[in-house]
Amino acid sequence: MTLVIDNISELITNDPALGEGPLGIINDASVVVSGDEVLAVGKAGASADKQLDAGGRCVLPGFVDSHTHLVFAGDRAEEFTRRMAGEPYDGGGIRVTTDASRQAGREALRAELGQRLGEVHRAGTTAVEIKSGYGLSVDSEAELTALAAEVTSESTFLGAHLVPSEFQDRVDDYVELVCGPMLDAVRDHVRWIDAFCETGAFDADQSRAVLEAGRAAGLGLRLHANQLGYGPGVQLGVELGCASVDHCTYLSDDDIEALAASDTVATYLPATDFSTRQPYPNARRAIDAGVKVAIASNCNPGSSYTTSLSFCIALAVRDMHMTIDEAVAAVTTGGAAALHRPDLGRIVEGSPAHLTILDAPSRHHLAYRPGVPLIWRTFGSDYRIPSTNDQNNN
Ligand code: NIG
Repeated sequence: MTLVIDNISELITNDPALGEGPLGIINDASVVVSGDEVLAVGKAGASADKQLDAGGRCVLPGFVDSHTHLVFAGDRAEEFTRRMAGEPYDGGGIRVTTDASRQAGREALRAELGQRLGEVHRAGTTAVEIKSGYGLSVDSEAELTALAAEVTSESTFLGAHLVPSEFQDRVDDYVELVCGPMLDAVRDHVRWIDAFCETGAFDADQSRAVLEAGRAAGLGLRLHANQLGYGPGVQLGVELGCASVDHCTYLSDDDIEALAASDTVATYLPATDFSTRQPYPNARRAIDAGVKVAIASNCNPGSSYTTSLSFCIALAVRDMHMTIDEAVAAVTTGGAAALHRPDLGRIVEGSPAHLTILDAPSRHHLAYRPGVPLIWRTFGSDYRIPSTNDQNNN
């Protein structure tokens, strides 16, 4: 059974060989799919067994969200409200979510994860990375990583998210636990390992120890870096060959130079800067220097409780000095690069049929109409939504 999505005003393929500019845009286009695979892209009027009239809408590759913390219990609305009244963000609330997640139990965590994944899909996102990091004990991190692995191959061990209360003033003991018994308990559930390298969380030596232990266990590396101030994280991430360093709110000239000379992707999380009242990073500076960039949601209950990459695009264009085309690339091919998944983020013959249709004629509307639910349909996904969830738009 083949399906043609026809009468597309603007099709973003992300293959410059197929259309105009770096996004490979084809106007007045069609896409033919069979099951989970794209069979053909080209001008409107292709034939297939079934037809969907896109009605002059814009079709993009499904968004690739390369940084989320979707497995957790509870929310921190009160903390957010206090922050909007002037209280600074320091990451300490991670312990509040850790308490709630340890107590919730597997079924409740799975149900909350399923609901969030439904929201993710309705937001036009068809691939997600999911971190642990709200367990911070051997058993609880094993539970959270197992839940993430049930739904995505892009699961990440973040035992080094914050030192839990029971290890107060014993950070090195906690790092030993993370690098030893905790890593052993999670390694079969995860593809990646991550650490929060920041004042108040883990310093460069501790982050290095965690990432090197992960690498020895066969995991790929990622790092939270330079979120709350300048620091050693970005350069450590580059030195260790991380696939991505994430946040990058504060980048020195040396950080930019190191990133530009590397294959490490700088992943911006603008909804976090919005929710924590941090300044927005100037992505223009990094892009013009040759840094490869991605944009992700960082969906979590503390610093960025949104699944909307459309919102992130609008912030990146308005406040980070990215063009709309750069922002669209950052949430598609950029996210795919940050996950070392070149199969994702493009609409070309043979690629997975993961598509987002906007209720708008062009990509410009993503930034031009902020806050408006512009996702008309989302097709396919790289993740599995637990069946209890209502996946209502496919
Ligand atoms: O990426 N920075 C560390 N981790 C999350 C915040 C988690 C939280 O506050 O609960 C982040 O922003």
